[in-house]
Amino acid sequence: MPVPEINLFDMAIFHRQRHYAGAGGGSSGESMIVTVIGVGKIGESIARGLAKSPKVSRVIVTRRNPRASTLAGGKIELTSDNRKAARAADVLFLAVKSTDARPLLREISEEASGTLVVSVMAAISLRRLEEALPNSRVVRAMPNVAASVGKAISAYAPGSRVRKGDLPRVRHLLGTFGESLEVPESLMDAVTALSGSGPAYIAILIDAMVSGALKVGLPRDVAFQLVTKTLTGTADLLKEKGIHPAELRDLVTTPAGTTIAGIYELEKGSFRISIMNAIEAATQAAEKVARKFETEEP
Ligand SMILES: NC(=O)c1ccc[n+]([C@@H]2O[C@H](COP(=O)([O-])OP(=O)(O)OC[C@H]3O[C@@H](n4cnc5c(N)ncnc54)[C@H](OP(=O)(O)O)[C@@H]3O)[C@@H](O)[C@H]2O)c1
Repeated sequence: MPVPEINLFDMAIFHRQRHYAGAGGGSSGESMIVTVIGVGKIGESIARGLAKSPKVSRVIVTRRNPRASTLAGGKIELTSDNRKAARAADVLFLAVKSTDARPLLREISEEASGTLVVSVMAAISLRRLEEALPNSRVVRAMPNVAASVGKAISAYAPGSRVRKGDLPRVRHLLGTFGESLEVPESLMDAVTALSGSGPAYIAILIDAMVSGALKVGLPRDVAFQLVTKTLTGTADLLKEKGIHPAELRDLVTTPAGTTIAGIYELEKGSFRISIMNAIEAATQAAEKVARKFETEEP
């Protein structure tokens, strides 16, 4: 796949300088250049979402090995030059692995000056990010893998320098690949465990239900369709009607009926306790990784 030569950066930087000359932080109706540094699994989904926004004029994406990506095309420009890409950005997403964050932050610190930065990197605190990017306004966000179908839920926590007008922009940009929700940063490890890791737990649940269905003779494709639609339908019902899950459970559980027979087996297998323990263990693991980054030299 040929990698297009990026020769539009200077124009992009010119755009940014003009844009900020009288903008005072940006507002709705604007046209933004958004850069995503690190287009791996999550960065690629983010970039594809961003490219769909009418408010985003260009998406500049970077990775160390751009030839490994097929992302370029349309609004998306691909490069390995992080500094130029950062300099051109009105909003900058950081999506490299946390273990690659330190050299990257050093590399772009100056170019990201005055820029709104959204980090989706797990475990790197706002304090660390603001220390490494002393002239940037930083927001920390945690999306999930459903971003690849535009259905992520991204929790985000604003840093101390964020200005009025930044958060509506961030919400708009996160909204290009799902929904978003503001939380205090202190909840980020729990968020990572719940909605970051959550798709893996749900995938295991779906797989287990399909296996159960196979055991009683349902064809795999029929079972998969029934299970996935039951899952999304149940979630929609709870959300739209605003009812408690226990209420819904009671609604479908009749005395001596089929549902209670199934629930009895789930309780025997400590289903609910296993799930609670899983969320707790994942939160503790996220806290441990975050502590490691927090105590290491910057
Ligand atoms: N995956 C998820 O579902 C998910 C969800 C929420 C948050 N996150 C967080 O997002 C971050 C990335 O996760 P991921 O799963 O997307 O990892 P990944 O697939 O390994 O992607 C990371 C990308 O970063 C690129 N990269 C590394 N150093 C770079 C540099 N100095 N300059 C430019 N590009 C660089 C790599 O490019 P090369 O391969 O070319 O070196 C790679 O494409 C992690 O901190 C993770 O915790 C991930």
